[in-house]
Order: sequence, then structure tokens, then C-alpha cells
Amino acid sequence: MKRLNIDLEERSYDILIGRNILSKIGELISKRFKPSKTTIITHPSIRNLFGDKIESGLTNIINSSEVIEVPEGESSKSLQQAELIYDRMLEMKCDRKSFLIALGGGVIGDLTGFIAATYQRGIPFIQIPTTLLSQVDSSVGGKTAVNLPRGKNMIGAFYQPKLVVIDLDTLQTLPEKEFRAGLAEVVKYGVIADAELFTFLENKAEDILSLKSACLEYIIETSCAIKARVVEKDEHENRHRMILNFGHTFGHSIETLTNYTEYLHGEALSIGMVQAASLSVETGLCNKDVLIRITNLLKKFGLPIHPPDLKTEDIIRSMYHDKKTTHNKLRLILVKAIGSVEIVDNVSEIPIKAVLNKKQ
Ligand code: GLY
Repeated sequence: MKRLNIDLEERSYDILIGRNILSKIGELISKRFKPSKTTIITHPSIRNLFGDKIESGLTNIINSSEVIEVPEGESSKSLQQAELIYDRMLEMKCDRKSFLIALGGGVIGDLTGFIAATYQRGIPFIQIPTTLLSQVDSSVGGKTAVNLPRGKNMIGAFYQPKLVVIDLDTLQTLPEKEFRAGLAEVVKYGVIADAELFTFLENKAEDILSLKSACLEYIIETSCAIKARVVEKDEHENRHRMILNFGHTFGHSIETLTNYTEYLHGEALSIGMVQAASLSVETGLCNKDVLIRITNLLKKFGLPIHPPDLKTEDIIRSMYHDKKTTHNKLRLILVKAIGSVEIVDNVSEIPIKAVLNKKQ
């Protein structure tokens, strides 16, 4: 089992990565903490797959352990769902020494983190991400949120977990489409910070797609390590952390304008990264080779690279609603070379329109 540490002073924590570690979760927790009780928040389908391993491991070590199931899908990331859970936790007498455990993908992690940040002014929580996307991105770094009808992730807090446990075996049952979508975030880490990771992805695409353990371990560990270093430098996203949003401004617009029904987040991100790289070429920040390598790698992973048929002005309008946009100026992450990006403030609409209007 590999252990990475994310150094945030009193909010520091470990990220554990390995195989078959879910059944040891009770031991891993009790070695580090003394919870009065643990409550797992999960979906019924995830509980079916992994519940037995975790629940028996927990009850052997921690005397009181319960499970709260929430319906599958983004609609569970709501204030209404949070209220139902707070109520249930009060009924179960969860106190400030109780731990929440998020068992699932990004929706479960964000919702559980949000509840942990707010229940009785904050209780500890542990992330057990079960999708590639949540393992390399959302479970690490402390972004927690629920959605409002007017916008995703509009209510939330930066609130770090006490531990992240990544069991590579969970990927064996992940639908292939979701696995591929998670790879978009891994490609992102190569582009923003690690040319060696990017070359590894190019050379080992087939082994990765066939879930070779050593490859999975390398790409997940490297991605988490990159994210950890970025978050250590700028936990609250004052500036540097924004590099993690490479491709996301375009990607979010595509997700919003297609009502979150046509693309998984990683698929929209894939298209968004191609657009951000095209814009980088258009503005003279990098040469065309960079765009070609990014596009080819995403294609190798079976990810979409062409935007859907949307109006340029609608995309641009939606880009202004991104949380990273301030004072009505478009701020984008552009690529200089594989492994290096720049935060560019006040990007003009002219090159953006040129990129969006190009026939793909
Ligand atoms: N997903 C981007 C971040 O955690 O900052």
C-alpha cells in the first residue's frame, strides 16, 4: 500500500492507495482516530458492491457503525438531501466525535464533505472514492458542495477530509465509459504539471485501458501527488490552484448547455481541453504539436474531442458564469508546453470566437 501525505498543517492527511484495502478500513481508521461512531453515506448499488467488506471491517473495530443510503445521481447533491441526512444523523445521535465516511464517486464525496463541514459546525470525514474521477480529483483537496437549481456547486466549503482511501480494486467494476471519463482528469495532470506522466499515458494507453494494476497505481498516485502539491500551495484557490481547472471553463459550458445529460464530466472536460489547447495555439502560447498530442491521447482513450453543435455566443455567455470568472473578465488556463500551463487573465473574446467558429 502506498501512502501520500498532503501537508496542510493541522489539516494534513494521508492518501492511501492500494489493492484490497477496503476490508482493512476499520484497522486503518482505528490506528489513526478514535471515532465515537462512523456513518457511511453511499448509494445502494455501491453498498451492494463494497458494503460487506467495509461494514464488517468497521464493526469489528468500531462499536457503532451505520449506513445512510441516498439515491443515485447528481440530484442527491442538494440542500434537501442534506437536510434529510442531518435529521437522520440527529436521530442516530451522531455527535462531534462521529466520523462520516463517503463511499462512492464525486456526488457522494461532495455531499458527504458538505454535511461533514456543516453538521454541528463540522465533524471529521473520510473519503473512500470508488470511481477513477473521484480517486484522482474530487476526493482530494477539500472542495465540498451541493447544487442550487441555478447552478452546480454553488453552496459549499473548503473542508479537508481526515483520510482518503483509494482501493484500486473498485475500478474493476466501474463501467468502462466512467473509467475513460476519469482518464480525462489524468491527462489533465500530465498537461498541467508532468510531461513524464503524459508520455507514460501515450505509451501505455492499452495497458491502462485493460486495467493493469501497476499502471493504475502509477497514474493514480502521480495524479494525487500533483494535486496534493497544488493544494498545499493554494488550498483556497486564490490563484495557483486554478491550474487544476485546465479545460474546465469550456467543459462546464458544454455540460451546462447540454443540461448535464449528454456528457459525463470527464467527457466534457476532454472536449474542453482540446478547445483550451486550440486557444493556446491561436494566441501563440504553444505550437500545434502540443494540441496534436493532447487530441491524439484523448482519442486513444476513446474520449470525445469535438464539441456538440452549440452557438458560439451561448458558449461564451456561459463561460462568464464560471466561478473562476471575476469582474466579468474571462480568465483561462492555457498551455505553454506539455507539463506547463499559464493562468491568463482577461482573455479577449476574439481568439475564443475564432476557435469556437472553426469547423471541427
Ligand atoms: N477539481 C479542481 C480542484 O479541486 O481544485
